[in-house]
Amino acid sequence: MPSPLIVLGIESSCDETAAAVLVDGRTRSNVVAGQEVHAQWGGVVPELASRAHQEHIVPVVDTALRQAGVARQDLSAVAFTQGPGLIGALLVGTCFARSLAQGLGIPLLGVDHMQAHVLAHFIRDGEDRPIPPFPFLNLTVSGGHTLLVLVSGPLEMKVIGTTVDDAAGEAFDKAAKVLGLPYPGGPLIDRNAIGGDPRRFKLPMPQVPGTDFSFSGIKTAFNLLVQRGLRDDPAFIQKEHAHLCASLQQSIVDVLLRKVQKAARSLGVRSIAMSGGVSANSALRAQFAALAEREGWGAYVPPPAYCTDNGAMVAMAGHYLLKAGRTVGLDAIPHTR
Ligand code: KG4
Ligand code: ZN
Repeated sequence: MPSPLIVLGIESSCDETAAAVLVDGRTRSNVVAGQEVHAQWGGVVPELASRAHQEHIVPVVDTALRQAGVARQDLSAVAFTQGPGLIGALLVGTCFARSLAQGLGIPLLGVDHMQAHVLAHFIRDGEDRPIPPFPFLNLTVSGGHTLLVLVSGPLEMKVIGTTVDDAAGEAFDKAAKVLGLPYPGGPLIDRNAIGGDPRRFKLPMPQVPGTDFSFSGIKTAFNLLVQRGLRDDPAFIQKEHAHLCASLQQSIVDVLLRKVQKAARSLGVRSIAMSGGVSANSALRAQFAALAEREGWGAYVPPPAYCTDNGAMVAMAGHYLLKAGRTVGLDAIPHTR
């Protein structure tokens, strides 16, 4: 029997320091340290993110190895997020991974963060989840990106749509800031939208041709709506909170799903999938499944812990890169875009 592939995945592209161990694509551990330091600033402060990664990386990797019951010497390879992301944040994970791979004399794998988000679908963890068959269309929605990707194989991906301005997660976070919610506001909007009327406030549907997205119009309209409301009634946000959250959320979901439907129809794919932080959104998950059902397509969405940034998806990407012999040198440097 061939020896198992034991891959350590390290993620440090933004504001999560994460590490995971996968054995033959199965999760043995998945550890994430968030960074609360950004909440008060309304967004990720790059300098603070780098410092927090420096503090977290050793304990996070140690915990991942310990929880997996894997000794460093047992690792087959080290995978790390090479980009895109914040340069100072990426440097922490990159330098750590390079040193570890050098010390252990094992291969180093440079992972594209957006590719890792797609490969989150293939992580096995004992739960019986169907994996999307190739080819499938993936909606990759995070704080930094909004992409439609045609996936024909584990490492064969083609971007067929992207945002022309803000990312969907950014739209959630910026609207949340207008409501006075701390960063990241996406999960709070999701929670606070419960019981709200998603059609109470109408926000403009962007008119971007093809399979590209735009969210800046929604952001501006939402801001205006709130400023006008506050002018008439200083308690506007409190009174309308759930309706504002639900309406904003619905507008973003409408934009996303409209383009998914258009792209999947024109490509003729039978399977749609979704990943990235925003795909943890409960309204989006429910309506994504409903769209697939109406169209007779298969729908695939990982559990929320694999949607937001995590080490398991980086290790999963590393697993495929290792099998394909696509290692990087110990002089690998991060790329921000
Ligand atoms: O993938 P991710 O963890 O990090 C990036 O690669 O950017 O995505 C983070 C984004 C943030 O904008 C956050 O507000 C959003 O995902 N997000 C959500 C939810 N959970 C995370 N947005 C809406 N609803 C959620 N439940
Ligand atoms: Zn991400």
